[in-house]
Amino acid sequence: MRALCWNGVNDLRVETVPDPEIVNPRDAILKVVASTTCGSDLHFINGYIPTMREGDVIGHEFMGEVVDVGPAVTKVKRGDRVVVPSFICCGSCWYCKHDLYSLCDTTNPNAVMQSAALGYPTAGIYGYTHAFGGYAGAHATYVRVPHADTDCFKIPEGVSDEQALFLSDAAPTGFMGADFCNIRRGEVIAVWGAGGVGQMALQSARALGAERVIAIDRFPERLALAREKAQAETINYEEEPVLDRLKELTGGRGPDACIDAVGMEAHGPGVQYAYDRVKQALRLETDRGEALRQAIMAVRKGGVLSVLGVYGVMDKFPLGVLMNKGITVRTAQQHGQKYIPKLFDMLHKGQLDTSCLATHHFSLEDSARGYSMFKKKQDGIMRAVFRPD
Ligand SMILES: NC(=O)c1ccc[n+]([C@@H]2O[C@H](COP(=O)([O-])OP(=O)(O)OC[C@H]3O[C@@H](n4cnc5c(N)ncnc54)[C@H](O)[C@@H]3O)[C@@H](O)[C@H]2O)c1
Ligand SMILES: [Zn+2]
Ligand SMILES: [Zn+2]
Repeated sequence: MRALCWNGVNDLRVETVPDPEIVNPRDAILKVVASTTCGSDLHFINGYIPTMREGDVIGHEFMGEVVDVGPAVTKVKRGDRVVVPSFICCGSCWYCKHDLYSLCDTTNPNAVMQSAALGYPTAGIYGYTHAFGGYAGAHATYVRVPHADTDCFKIPEGVSDEQALFLSDAAPTGFMGADFCNIRRGEVIAVWGAGGVGQMALQSARALGAERVIAIDRFPERLALAREKAQAETINYEEEPVLDRLKELTGGRGPDACIDAVGMEAHGPGVQYAYDRVKQALRLETDRGEALRQAIMAVRKGGVLSVLGVYGVMDKFPLGVLMNKGITVRTAQQHGQKYIPKLFDMLHKGQLDTSCLATHHFSLEDSARGYSMFKKKQDGIMRAVFRPD
């Protein structure tokens, strides 16, 4: 089959690789119908997240058609149209039973690598480094889905391929970020980053009852989409001082919760950004923390900081600000298996628009170009969608 492979930093190529096979009775094989890019991919494409290997098939956000199932699979069958969360979960360990799916204890065969870094291993993920299990990704003709009964979600009639595609990752991530904020009536939620994850967080915060949502980014088209789809107020950080503006918009008190949907490759206008950039380039720190530090400063006293952006080890992390302001920090990799049924319901009720993320379409053969555009945020791209056919 054909697949998009990582061959080194900034070197992606479509190659011919062996078809996946059923290796475990609980596996399914999917014919990929659509897959898409994620900001998380950029972190290893740009060389900031280690343990990729030459020839790794990438891609962790996808939907498709079941073409084969192992003998122990009971809930899905050939011909089903399904969406699959990016984290691979067994459904039966202590973490899965507690709805903490991305922390599944059993699906990372390279648990030793992750335990060394994190103390304990997390779940495996498709197409995302060997520390996360080294599973083949989904920018391919076919993909193997272990634990098919837990991880394949049948797509209801009336939900399009592209609406469902983003339930794989961007939508549950954004929803989880808003869920973490425990939103009460009248609250104001600010979201740093108006990419796919930020857009889903903004829309979800609205659906969960936020009175006002504020989007912070620098790309006018992304801010415009936030205004259109989430009735967000917007701040372009290149044009206005973010902290002053947020105080102005909230009567001096600050947002009740701040969501970071930016992560380790934050951009910024100031000296701190230049410092982070140099240290990151020299591999002396992994993170450019501009957005996260700003969110910590901006959140009101006693508020919530919800971190969706992916981070490693950050310099100048202001723990004292969090402590003295009594901030509650919530963060996780997304627990898609928990949220997908709810998200289907929201699509049905018109509370969520996911297909607006599908701004650009490419054949699988042309997917490396899709990533290049996504990386440079060219031509108003939000997410690149790839179709193998
Ligand atoms: N927790 C999870 O499970 C999970 C899932 C998916 C993605 N992520 C992470 O979420 C983050 C966002 O992902 P995405 O796919 O939306 O990425 P993206 O690259 O499409 O969007 C990131 C956005 O952040 C903006 N940004 C950069 N610096 C900023 C700053 N200082 N202030 C405000 N905005 C700034 C960029 O302009 C861009 O629009 C990434 O770190 C990704 O790894 C986490
Ligand atoms: Zn993702
Ligand atoms: Zn599990």
